[in-house]
Amino acid sequence: MLGFFLISRRRGCGAGHLPMTDSYPLPVARIGIIGGGQLARMMVKAAKRLGCTCVVLDPTPASPAGQVAGHQIVGGYHDADKLRELAAVADVLTYDLEAIGTETLFELAREGAVIHPSPQVLATIQDKLVQKQFLEAHGIPTADFVEADAITPETFAAFGYPLVQKARRGGYDGRGVAVMRDAEAFARNLPVPSLLERFVPAAKEIAVLVARGTDGDCRCYPLAEMWFRGEENVLDLLLAPADIDPAIAQTAEDIALRTVRALGGVGVFGVEMFVTADGEVLVNEVAPRTHNSGHHTIEACVTDQFEQHIRAVLGLPLGSTEQLRPAAMINLLGAPGYKGRGTINGMAAALAIPGVCLHLYGKASTSPFRKMGHVTVLDKDLQSARAKAERVRDLIEIIGEEKL
Ligand SMILES: Nc1ncnc2c1ncn2[C@@H]1O[C@H](COP(=O)(O)OP(=O)(O)O)[C@@H](O)[C@H]1O
Ligand SMILES: [Mg+2]
Repeated sequence: MLGFFLISRRRGCGAGHLPMTDSYPLPVARIGIIGGGQLARMMVKAAKRLGCTCVVLDPTPASPAGQVAGHQIVGGYHDADKLRELAAVADVLTYDLEAIGTETLFELAREGAVIHPSPQVLATIQDKLVQKQFLEAHGIPTADFVEADAITPETFAAFGYPLVQKARRGGYDGRGVAVMRDAEAFARNLPVPSLLERFVPAAKEIAVLVARGTDGDCRCYPLAEMWFRGEENVLDLLLAPADIDPAIAQTAEDIALRTVRALGGVGVFGVEMFVTADGEVLVNEVAPRTHNSGHHTIEACVTDQFEQHIRAVLGLPLGSTEQLRPAAMINLLGAPGYKGRGTINGMAAALAIPGVCLHLYGKASTSPFRKMGHVTVLDKDLQSARAKAERVRDLIEIIGEEKL
């Protein structure tokens, strides 16, 4: 079956974006997913809808995605043997996080494995310094930066405050980012290889989800507006479509498309951006995967980001990104001060509100600000969706059994 699959994939797309061989032995494909978190969990659900089977690689047994896939290899994302084990049982490999050993992925690709987005794209993005250099080299507007060759008060002061220190690798959900307004904040420095970035006083943070198919076809979702928790820099509230000037929205969309075309990968990409008070659009970072800013697409768009990603990596035509209703989304974060097995309070009260769609990720334990689930609210207009989402945020609490 693998042979057939690769041949039909290699034939790629003919006229009108349709594969030349429109015939698939069932299951349509065996998809190997590196990373078993919530993004992979939602990807598995979409893949199964399209008649695929999934295998997940994750170090935590019964990971959120492993539970849904029904087939998990327990192992680390840098473990060459486990990555090979996954590749051996999959027709196509993809991932839900950046922190993967790319050396093994490059080897597998050389041996003929189909990996989307490509190891080259992942290698460029997973090191935030290399990513910024890539953006700069391709004329994509982004905040000024330097490599932090030493983590000392002097090097930080020489770059100048306010600044943002970012770990080159391994950061996510604001872990690996330190916003420093002045020299006193140097005490909170991250003792790891880093870059320093100019602090951007953003009026808004937005994200553009872009899907790119194997034939180069690119599609943007309507822009989403992101609001972050001040201290933790983790996404708190998302509104879509974003309430911004149409000319700025067009600029943002153009920049996002240029970015993804320059990278050249296949799949869904999340392009995070700052919009400054005077309307300047700067790329913050790019995620080579489905993205938190697209969770609402499950209920609000014709083709959700997870199905879109599966379509892309299988070389199938991309679906419509049209948004059918305004949507607000909140992340359900673990309550501060607790860890361990979680309890959700306020679930019934939240579900009693019309338009509320609840997603829980099946994580065995909670910790402060850990993403445990999300809620999307659809409504006739953005403001009422937002009001309901904020009510849900007050109603639902996820508490761990151990007090910290
Ligand atoms: N240069 C910057 N200026 C102002 N705020 C920033 C800057 N860089 C990051 N932030 C804030 O920190 C958040 C997380 O940073 P980001 O680089 O996106 O890391 P992560 O990989 O954790 O998402 C951003 O969404 C934004 O709110
Ligand atoms: Mg980010």
